[in-house]
Amino acid sequence: MQLLNGKELSRILKGEIKTKVDKMVENGARAPHLAAILVGSNGASETYVNHKVKMCQEVGFESTLLRMPETVSEKELIEQIERFNKADFIDGFIVQLPLPRHINADRILHAIDHRKDVDGFHPVNIGRMALNQACYLPATPYGIMQLLELYNVDTSGKHCVVVGRSNIVGTPMSILLSRNSSPGNCTVTLCHSRTQNIEKFTREADILIVALGKPNFIRANMVKEGVVIIDVGITRVPDSTRKWGYRLAGDVDFEGVSPKCSFITPVPGGVGPMTVVSLLLNTLKAANKEIY
Ligand code: GUN
Repeated sequence: MQLLNGKELSRILKGEIKTKVDKMVENGARAPHLAAILVGSNGASETYVNHKVKMCQEVGFESTLLRMPETVSEKELIEQIERFNKADFIDGFIVQLPLPRHINADRILHAIDHRKDVDGFHPVNIGRMALNQACYLPATPYGIMQLLELYNVDTSGKHCVVVGRSNIVGTPMSILLSRNSSPGNCTVTLCHSRTQNIEKFTREADILIVALGKPNFIRANMVKEGVVIIDVGITRVPDSTRKWGYRLAGDVDFEGVSPKCSFITPVPGGVGPMTVVSLLLNTLKAANKEIY
């Protein structure tokens, strides 16, 4: 069993980004600038956005965190997005999700200029992804693709089973791994909440990608020997022995399942760190005007 060590890989990639940024600045260019809009004060969103800002500092990016109150109207939020669309000094920006219920997230994501959509959530970027054209890939799928690529996991001709069909992870992963590309060329099965007898599919998987948010859902009897597992789950489970009163749990029973795996991502330290680095890579592409 080999760990797909996202913590280590993200550290290396961050070092490479920093070197590129230092060169850009040395040559008289502006450092890449990522902005984030945070609406309200959702605890997890707050943590994620602060982490993104911190990562920007570590690689020498400029960053802006714009907070808007929970009560902001959709119109006001769209007006702010339009200001960021026009601002030459901002290369890319994100609107942290989830948004309050009175705001239509689809309309918000559509309002972002797709050339600055470093989250890769705009329909233009999703469409280009499906067509195998240059685009911003959503950060978590992009991070998973890099883990597979840089650990030389063979995907061609393999049966990949994706559990969970969210717009952010499951659906894009099913598209990316079925493309005629590397990593890719898989035969893909997408399982979801209406799938019957899910173990029948997970047991057939050469590559199993789980993005459900149900701690320890995948048990040893649900996978075959030699499987590659990507665990996208990061649920906060109450744990009074921890400093913050919780620990992070993946969707896979790591202790039981890992002895059967050829590769597996740990939680934490697998997919999570790769996600933030992917956002930085997208911002670097935006600064270099690679996606238009
Ligand atoms: N909420 C959970 N994950 C993400 C993400 O990758 N981007 C944004 N904008 N919001 C999120």
